[in-house]
Amino acid sequence: MSTTPANGWSQQDSEAVIRATDEKLRDALSSDVPPGLTTEEAARLRRTLLDALPREAAQGARRLCHVFATDRERLREAEAKQRTRLAREASAVERLSLHLRVQHMILFSSCILLIITGLPIKFHESAVSGAVMSLFGGPSVTGFLHRAGAVGLTLIGLYHIFYSVAFRSGRRDFGLLIPKLQDAKDALRQILYFIGRRKERPLYGRFSYIEKFDYWAVYWGMVVMISSGFILWFKEAAINGFGKSIYDIAREAHSDEALLATLAIVIWHFYNVHFNPKRFPGSLTWWNGKITVDEFKEEHPLEYEEWRLSGKVAGEQEAAGEAPPGDNA
Ligand code: HEM
Repeated sequence: MSTTPANGWSQQDSEAVIRATDEKLRDALSSDVPPGLTTEEAARLRRTLLDALPREAAQGARRLCHVFATDRERLREAEAKQRTRLAREASAVERLSLHLRVQHMILFSSCILLIITGLPIKFHESAVSGAVMSLFGGPSVTGFLHRAGAVGLTLIGLYHIFYSVAFRSGRRDFGLLIPKLQDAKDALRQILYFIGRRKERPLYGRFSYIEKFDYWAVYWGMVVMISSGFILWFKEAAINGFGKSIYDIAREAHSDEALLATLAIVIWHFYNVHFNPKRFPGSLTWWNGKITVDEFKEEHPLEYEEWRLSGKVAGEQEAAGEAPPGDNA
């Protein structure tokens, strides 16, 4: 397969020029008279070729140099890119374990399915809802898919409770996610910083008040959506067991909280995680679990300090290639 560099001049082209130049050289230096030419004509041809040779050879050489220079430049660029990528990877820390990432993926896949099938049921009179439902295969398939998403959400919710009790990392994170008075102070300080009344942002640990709010909003939302959803699902049993007014309240709560949850995800969660200017056009932490050391230092400075003291991450001097004090004793 021929490789054609960006300048349009391939290795095969270079070889063809060398071959043609070789042939011309051979002809020009040959004392034979080519058939059909007189001796004078052959001598004139030899002179013309000899005149043209240095020009063609120089052109060929220039082209070859250009090809090689371009290739070398591209190689250098590729190596530089590779070095930057490796340096970035080496300076990343794991924020979300694989275990948490899988839970998060199941959670958001179920939520997306529930939103895109639930909203057309809520706004069934709109033409867009009709189009979405027929895309899924009609109202009954949409209802079925909604229930499938509900099963996914319920199972992952139950599993997360199990994870928060049975796993050390789950217990640690759950403890750190419990709201404290400090979060209210942080929220106030952050607002004062935003309006220019404080010079410094508050310093956060593993979870800021924003992340805690995000987490508990999902918890609260799941309790409301799952309990009201099952009442809607098993309508007759629910009316027989709890009465019609409970069913009506559940329907209202399910319908309103669905809209609130959708807006909270699209506005609050997406802005904080993906669309804020530091992260735009998006964060890949949900996929690879990583954040850069710089992000870690800036957004979770108290946790970074804990990691540094326990030797889990290099300090600034070490990251810059300097030996930490006392290491050279
Ligand atoms: C993120 C979570 C969820 C969202 C956004 C959501 C959204 C919705 C919406 C907008 C409706 C239409 C309500 C109306 O008619 O005004 C609905 C109906 C319904 N939802 Fe959900 N839902 C969620 C979770 C659940 C869960 C967990 C269950 C079950 C455990 C569930 C079961 C149902 C049922 C049975 C209906 C009635 C469907 C029908 O009429 O065919 N939903 N949902």
